[in-house]
Amino acid sequence: MTIGSIKIDRPLILAPMEDVTDMPFRLVCKRLGADIMYTEFVNSDGLIRNNKKTFEKMRFLEEERTFGIQIYGGDENAMEGAARLADSLNPDIIDINAGCWVKQVAGRGAGAGLLKDTPRMERLVKNVIGATKIPVTVKTRLGWDEHSIKIIEVAKMLEGIGVAALTIHCRTRSQGHNGDPDYSWIPKVKREVSIPIIVNGSLVEPAQIKEVFDETGCDGVMIGRGAIDNPWIFADTKHYFATGEVMPKRTLAERIDKCIELLTLSVERKGEKRAVIEMRKFYIGYLKGEPNAAKLRNHLMQYYEAQPIIDILSSVKEKGYIDEERFAAAPAAA
Ligand SMILES: Cc1cc2nc3c(=O)[nH]c(=O)nc-3n(C[C@H](O)[C@H](O)[C@H](O)COP(=O)(O)O)c2cc1C
Repeated sequence: MTIGSIKIDRPLILAPMEDVTDMPFRLVCKRLGADIMYTEFVNSDGLIRNNKKTFEKMRFLEEERTFGIQIYGGDENAMEGAARLADSLNPDIIDINAGCWVKQVAGRGAGAGLLKDTPRMERLVKNVIGATKIPVTVKTRLGWDEHSIKIIEVAKMLEGIGVAALTIHCRTRSQGHNGDPDYSWIPKVKREVSIPIIVNGSLVEPAQIKEVFDETGCDGVMIGRGAIDNPWIFADTKHYFATGEVMPKRTLAERIDKCIELLTLSVERKGEKRAVIEMRKFYIGYLKGEPNAAKLRNHLMQYYEAQPIIDILSSVKEKGYIDEERFAAAPAAA
């Protein structure tokens, strides 16, 4: 796949996810083989109002490249200003969110709301392209609902105005994150445009990802929720591509080590209290399938310091299982 000067064969891309794809999570995924990563969506209105917290969401490290900043908004001028600010950090890609389905975004004409007004989408994307020399990509959905699937005309329009690649979440806005994605639109889009097409939606297994590459002719795949529980998806898929072998499920010890790595990176980057609180959403995924996982998670949820959590996880790793009795009661430090 080629985007500007970026050339990556069959890239595995980490999807932008609000409150998930911050720097610590991205670093874990990068170390496990994610080829391209993005910020979560960054609000253009906040950026042009010089909101510091919003600007901070765009920061990244050199080791995170190939790296994209994703911006969103419904106002063409705000998006142009936001693109200039994103450009000042010199990412490899500036991505426009044209797929967010939540009411507060899509209902205000941003995200998937742009699919309801494609002339405005065209002006907005043109403004962003005009504001930067960095390649501009777009992430969108098949259409607003099943009666208004317009991905082919949208793809042609975007190619015509100079978009460097298009990611298609193969659901409609009205599906949200539910229902099966329909990958059958991808070959139809591929026949009409020559820009790279990246497939997104419920890609969670190496063999399934290979099948999607083979059957749709897509240029890259983007993995979202599948990486939250299983950041090894990138390494495992590359291993599968190279050998045809499916990696066995990671051991409890490996999953605990990864959990501690993420927590430690988070403490370094965000400070202890915030890191510990934001880590809570990850435990259940990392411990999935383990008897008494919920009990351990509930126990860990009660700490506000990282060291006791690391000590408990390390002791579970040493034991090799989650001791039901030990985690039945509230912790002494609660
Ligand atoms: C918690 C969460 C936050 C998300 N935030 C964003 C976002 O900031 N920008 C975006 O383009 N999509 C966002 N998405 C959508 C994902 O990028 C992706 O399109 C969607 O989850 C489907 O892919 P998946 O089935 O691999 O998860 C988010 C999804 C989730 C679950």
